[in-house]
Amino acid sequence: MIRPILTFPDPVLKQKALPVTIITDELRHLARDMAETMYDAPGVGLAAPQIGVLQRLIVIDVAAKGEPPHLITAINPTIIQTEGEVFEEEGCLSVPNFSANVKRHERVVVKGLSLDGQERVWQADGLLAIAFQHEIDHLEGTLFVDRLSPLKRELFLKKAKKWGAP
Ligand code: NI
Repeated sequence: MIRPILTFPDPVLKQKALPVTIITDELRHLARDMAETMYDAPGVGLAAPQIGVLQRLIVIDVAAKGEPPHLITAINPTIIQTEGEVFEEEGCLSVPNFSANVKRHERVVVKGLSLDGQERVWQADGLLAIAFQHEIDHLEGTLFVDRLSPLKRELFLKKAKKWGAP
């Protein structure tokens, strides 16, 4: 089921999500809904808080158009290693009509659980590394616009006002 995506400045997006302690059918169902919602949008990642669920669960698929889908579902994802630095353009399904360059690590190693409860380690670079960092930020209540310079953030807030945010 496609769920509505919360958008800035919804206060839920500023909240910290709680660790998943038990993998239930309900959680698996939630993960399915998140993937469906992400593909429908379309987007390359979605975190549970974006559909109003404050649990540490993310879905990512950075496969290019025409490539077969490659869905990653990560429970309680944590970055355990980082390397390098990039400055690439990002957008967010919760921040429509705005994109900006954000400083991120170039490569990350992420540890978490898969939906079957197995511990997983993902080695990510390129767009996948950025997507992991962006989605894990959502679990901390951080949006990419929170990582902009004060001047760029000011510009964002002005634009956000135009499309109706208070
Ligand atoms: Ni986002």
